[in-house]
Amino acid sequence: MKPNRRVTVAGGAITPFIGKFHPDFIWKKHPDFGTKENPSLEQLLHRVVLGACEDVGIDAAIVDRGYVGNFVGELFCQQGHLGALAVAADTGFLYTPFTRIEGACASGGLAIAAGVDAIQAGAEVVLVSGVEVQSTQNAKVGADFLARAAHYQKERSIDPFTFPAMFARRTEAYCHKHDVVPEALAPIVAKAYCNANRNPNAHMHSVTVTQQQAAEASDANPCFLDNESLNPWLKLSDCSQVSDGACAVILCSDEGLARLGQGADRAVEIQACSVACGPLGEVADFARMDVTEAAAGVAYSSAGWNANDIEVAEVHDCFSISEALMCEALGFCNEGEGTQLAADGATSLEGRIPVNTGGGLMAFGHPVGATGVKQVYELFRQLNGLCGDYQLASSPRRGICANMGGDDRTSVVTLLEKK
Ligand code: CAA
Repeated sequence: MKPNRRVTVAGGAITPFIGKFHPDFIWKKHPDFGTKENPSLEQLLHRVVLGACEDVGIDAAIVDRGYVGNFVGELFCQQGHLGALAVAADTGFLYTPFTRIEGACASGGLAIAAGVDAIQAGAEVVLVSGVEVQSTQNAKVGADFLARAAHYQKERSIDPFTFPAMFARRTEAYCHKHDVVPEALAPIVAKAYCNANRNPNAHMHSVTVTQQQAAEASDANPCFLDNESLNPWLKLSDCSQVSDGACAVILCSDEGLARLGQGADRAVEIQACSVACGPLGEVADFARMDVTEAAAGVAYSSAGWNANDIEVAEVHDCFSISEALMCEALGFCNEGEGTQLAADGATSLEGRIPVNTGGGLMAFGHPVGATGVKQVYELFRQLNGLCGDYQLASSPRRGICANMGGDDRTSVVTLLEKK
């Protein structure tokens, strides 16, 4: 919906997204293994809520309302009740209402939507955060936790890696419908790593994956699913990362902007924020993201925009096929052309419609509850020229985020504009 009261993103904060292969992530091959620990969920959350307040020059007491996007804190970290956990960051938050929001991997996007709604209801300064820590378990146990975003009873048994298998199923359907081969996804993967190599906050900042490496199954890049029929349709390099991280943004009404100590000049307007849901465990066509398409349709029409207005995009590339499907659902190309869009360079930093400029979920990383907030903060930074080595030379003014939960069963599409 288009907000009746103007909502702007005034600033924010992010932690590096870390996990296996990030130099700061402590695991069995790290020199500090056994003596130091990775930051906890609580530490990451506190870092970004305080960092966001500092970024816009406000005391915690100025915040009217807060939200925390998180999917499965109880399973990975034995910690729920994250609204009150955020309030513990500063005595200035005492008695401020903070609420945890959950919608699988769309938790962060839903937290943004809740923040927009809060401003429509009269709040002036809203702190929206997202956090997830997933490195406390190995990838196989984590896959079981993440499978709660599917219809667990119906879909868990598809493979020990439920979500990778669900998106292998989408790749298979897409390739059959449009007569393409899975190797056509390699430019999407190579572009993600190339962008992350320019982004110091990215999980895969120091890992390179070329188009050729992404196209070929190898010992280093295996097809790893147990499900025999889905196995050929997904390689390790097609997957997003199991990351830890957090991000927060400050949303303001016009009255709220006037309360800030600094940064009001960087404000980026939220022109629309739409949420759509489909039935869990039921997907009509694996070669389309109909729920994202529905959310995008409402967002475009309420803002009076169409896909041609978009100059930069953050889309939910939880797997390489997801980026192709998202580009189609958002109208950047026709159905069946999502892989060619990347192969032509249209989604690169120099392209017609740059997508996932910091590396996306595949290479920036995917701490699931933080991802939707990170997308908004990334656009805020691109629209303000703050992205350093991966800043777009085109100085974009209009952008779109699409954050998706489960197998495209909840989708949040947000349109942002720098005036
Ligand atoms: N060679 C051979 N096999 C390898 C390998 C290698 N170099 N690296 C990994 N594997 C295979 C093996 O089969 C291994 O299984 P075993 O334990 O039986 O050997 C399996 O992968 C896992 O190995 P690791 O634990 O070492 O894997 P990893 O830590 O490197 O993780 C990954 C790799 C499994 C792809 C992991 O990154 C992953 O699970 N990514 C996807 C995360 C995900 O699904 N996120 C949610 C996205 S869906 C969404 O966004 C919507 C929603 O609402 C949930």
